[in-house]
Amino acid sequence: MNGSSNLRIACVMVGLPARGKTYISYKVSRYLTWLGIKTQIFSVGNYRRKLAGLNLPHTFFDVNNAEGIKKRHEAASCALNDMINWFEKEDGTVAIFDATNSSKKARAWINNALTARNIQVLFIESVCEDKDIILSNIKDVKLSSPDYCNRDPNAATEDFMKRIKHYEETYETVTEQELTYIKLINVGSQYIINMIRGYLESRIVYYLMNLHTRPKRIWFSRHGESLFNLEDRIGGDAGLSPRGEQYALKLPELVRQNIGDRPLTVWTSSMTRTIQTARHLDFPKKQWKALDELDTGVCDGMTYEEIAIKYPDDFARRDEDKFNYRYRGGESYRDLVLRLEPVIMDLERHENILIISHQATIRCMYAYFMGLSHEQLPYARIPLHTIIELKPKAFSCEEKLYKVDVGSVDTYRPKGQLARKLTNDKFVSSMSPLSEGASGEIVDAKTPILPIKPMEATSTC
Ligand code: G3H
Repeated sequence: MNGSSNLRIACVMVGLPARGKTYISYKVSRYLTWLGIKTQIFSVGNYRRKLAGLNLPHTFFDVNNAEGIKKRHEAASCALNDMINWFEKEDGTVAIFDATNSSKKARAWINNALTARNIQVLFIESVCEDKDIILSNIKDVKLSSPDYCNRDPNAATEDFMKRIKHYEETYETVTEQELTYIKLINVGSQYIINMIRGYLESRIVYYLMNLHTRPKRIWFSRHGESLFNLEDRIGGDAGLSPRGEQYALKLPELVRQNIGDRPLTVWTSSMTRTIQTARHLDFPKKQWKALDELDTGVCDGMTYEEIAIKYPDDFARRDEDKFNYRYRGGESYRDLVLRLEPVIMDLERHENILIISHQATIRCMYAYFMGLSHEQLPYARIPLHTIIELKPKAFSCEEKLYKVDVGSVDTYRPKGQLARKLTNDKFVSSMSPLSEGASGEIVDAKTPILPIKPMEATSTC
């Protein structure tokens, strides 16, 4: 029996193949990592591929295939051992055990092994009977998996359907009253929850209840250039500069051209510059205090040069660890992530939201969707006078930037430097033909970042 008093939770996925278990694992992992909770996925599929190879036919998964069963058990044992080692040696907090775990016997085995080590177990079952959702999951996710590399898509789909049939023969939905579980039925149309304990399990359950898989897009824009931006001052509640006003005036046309006639909702912060930026947009609006800029405490209204002179130690400490540095009397990026958590929850629930906010707040939300680390987050480039469009996919996020032909200062301050105050008029006209009259266009379509990888199968099975 492990004497650890630290909270450790294993989220154990349950469900037939192609029910979105891996998608849910990635989403939970990304969300918890963003919050600063040490999280790792253990994918039994990866262990099985390492043990038994790629391109296995459906017969490998036949319930009467003794060799297949042996290998699959071996893979599950190795993954479970690695997961336990990770909790014990690497001080992990939440592990996600991604496998079908589709029999009572398998779940009892996992539950006993983990609870004996003082690790809480939360079973997350995804039940889905909608044939279209299952088929689109197979096409979008399974056919690109290493299990089917270089296979004809139709033959692979047929094989995968047969694999599902094998699992259906022995599948037992979770009904064990002694287990802690959440059952997600038909992608969020119903939930069954049993014996949830404590704050962190409740957070995970609440997050799962906000997730949906309908395709969506999210747009972010900073406020137009402000009078404080012109002076390189941070914080404050200044109004827009003349160029910021021009951006606000051009925004409706940019939205119409690039977002189209979707039923958009605009969220702003409670600060003057975002409210002014949104004021010509003819859509329902909501103000969120949570979207206000990072509180810079005693440095509010100062330039970076002034901060470096008046608070040199603070200035240096912020450069050393920008994510964790908290302004005296103000906030850190870590604080900001926590402040923005309810916004992220609401964003997961909604479609077609344009958020007009600030550099630091947009960095935090952008990092959640793009899977940036806490080191990368405070240095993400969020330029003025640009709309960032994000299109979340199964394991990544596509990004496009729409830039407007109105110049602005560049407020980006690279690590270790005092403020840079350059206009980017030149940058805009050299990047795009916008100065010839267009109101906005895509200037960049970045490659989606790689998803968080499940932990490699490390055991020497
Ligand atoms: O202080 C407000 C800024 O938008 C945040 O910028 O974190 O790069 O200093 P910074």
